[in-house]
Amino acid sequence: MVSQVFTPFTLRGMTLRNRIVMSPMLMYRGQDDGMLNEHLYVHYAARALGGVAMIGTEVLAVEPRGRISARDLGLWSDDQARGLQRLVDFVQSCGVRIFAQLAHAGRKSHLAETAIGPSAIAYDDTLGPPSEATLADIREVIDKFRLAAMRAAAAGFDALEIHAANGYLLHEFLAPVANARSDRYGGSLENRMRLPLEVVEAVRSVWPDEKPLLYRICAADFGTNGVSEEDSDALALELASRGVDLIDVQAGNILPGFAGTVYPGYQTPYADRLRKVSGLPTATTGSIAAIDLAEEIVGSGRADLIFMGRTLLRDPFWPIRAAREAGAELELPIATYARATGPFERGF
Ligand SMILES: Cc1cc2nc3c(=O)[nH]c(=O)nc-3n(C[C@H](O)[C@H](O)[C@H](O)COP(=O)(O)O)c2cc1C
Repeated sequence: MVSQVFTPFTLRGMTLRNRIVMSPMLMYRGQDDGMLNEHLYVHYAARALGGVAMIGTEVLAVEPRGRISARDLGLWSDDQARGLQRLVDFVQSCGVRIFAQLAHAGRKSHLAETAIGPSAIAYDDTLGPPSEATLADIREVIDKFRLAAMRAAAAGFDALEIHAANGYLLHEFLAPVANARSDRYGGSLENRMRLPLEVVEAVRSVWPDEKPLLYRICAADFGTNGVSEEDSDALALELASRGVDLIDVQAGNILPGFAGTVYPGYQTPYADRLRKVSGLPTATTGSIAAIDLAEEIVGSGRADLIFMGRTLLRDPFWPIRAAREAGAELELPIATYARATGPFERGF
């Protein structure tokens, strides 16, 4: 069987050498200034040497009150962008692409005194209710996403992802359970989609035309009065008409606990659905740890990219091994690795 996972994939002017992407994962290893440090540099660099086609950064907060924790990275200053540029240069020197994930934690910020949300409704008892965002706050959030996108372009990132899932600010605006506003940002679906779409428009207006824009969506919130399938179908169509190039599909998490069933590839049915509805390529995640499953997903057209999280935390070199299992050629980032990946001969 010819591998489908180890085939190139193009979005706008960016070509990936295979379909495996490191999914954004917050390491809680930064420092108060939101700057990249040596631990995180090495963490990402190791994955760049392991054979992935693209690396997604963990959440990069667009403003300090948008951090999940005090140890998040940020992209609200030019110094932070310069720090990240060093990583971008290294990753690209390995033939690997890298995207910045722009995020705002909203009511899920653990920095409780500054947290904002669509309404003063708590995510849980520990975090407590956020301040209800004023219209000035909303304008500021949109502008912070725009400025962060400009910094990501200056740092040389290949692509950008807007994080609008996992219970964070843009997901909260879409979900009635977190959004009880009665102004033009709450109520009807059109109103609940307004902030996410205004962020997309602001970001796309400054993000270079030749570079792809990804959107991490929540496909469904499972009977929690969160995002319904109808909501995310409608949103996906709006994203397609506003210059989003790929939808990265998540499900659940507007409230604590995941109400869906978990099994290898558990989020792929949502990626499949939104791919059909929107006509856009999709990425899927969710306990994908076997090359056969990845081949089935890509080969059957249920998703275009495999965003891999915990599998790559366990083993940064998983793609090199998986390529061998799939009988595919993978250009090694350091050619001498071939002496360890076989066919095995005497070392010395
Ligand atoms: C430690 C950890 C941190 C995560 N941080 C982020 C994050 O910063 N941004 C995000 O969009 N998703 C985050 N996620 C979700 C992952 O990107 C991914 O969607 C999820 O883990 C499912 O994929 P997997 O089963 O391959 O790990 C995180 C997941 C883990 C395990």
